[in-house]
Amino acid sequence: MFYDPLCGSGTLPLEASLKALNIAPGLFREQFGFETWLDADRPLLEKLIQLAEAKQHETILAPIWGSDRDGSVIEQAIANATNCGVLNHVYFAEINLEDVAAPADSGVVFCNPPYGERLGRDSDLGAFYKQLGDVLKQRFKGWTAFVLSGNKELSQSIGLKSSQRFAVYNGTLPCQLMKYELY
Ligand SMILES: C[S@@+](CC[C@H](N)C(=O)[O-])C[C@H]1O[C@@H](n2cnc3c(N)ncnc32)[C@H](O)[C@@H]1O
Repeated sequence: MFYDPLCGSGTLPLEASLKALNIAPGLFREQFGFETWLDADRPLLEKLIQLAEAKQHETILAPIWGSDRDGSVIEQAIANATNCGVLNHVYFAEINLEDVAAPADSGVVFCNPPYGERLGRDSDLGAFYKQLGDVLKQRFKGWTAFVLSGNKELSQSIGLKSSQRFAVYNGTLPCQLMKYELY
């Protein structure tokens, strides 16, 4: 099971489903830049596309879910899943983090919480990260969590001990991907 409880427009569940279905990156592109080269080998490209399509899987063995408190981004996630052709393979729902429950006994919870902007009048991001840590610790026992954040101080507010940390970029923004074993 793969679950992103802060899924926004669905990037992580959609990437997970494309990976699980073995859909090759770039297969949705109408044209690659190199196709305009005078010596571009179109028959070879066609053959490679056919080979990639033949390797796709029909089904995903583990369910892939995403949720977010914002109904409009869930609508966007559903539209994006439709455009990627994976709507039958992912499930999206409007759920506030405070109401989130683990949909299975074990799995991978993977999220990209907000950083860099305030959440609202009555809350701040530090409190939100603490709430995220509490939800993971109390409701996701037996799961492995990955949290992507661009703010080290906020990451510490999660209050969980990471088993691994990876330095990554989100676009041009240097970020950390923290891994937590929850038990
Ligand atoms: C940085 S964005 C995630 C972006 C996402 N990976 C995407 O592909 O769009 C963080 C998301 O957390 C959601 N969020 C913030 N507070 C929340 C809460 N209390 N419960 C559920 N979702 C929340 C926001 O609506 C936002 O979509």
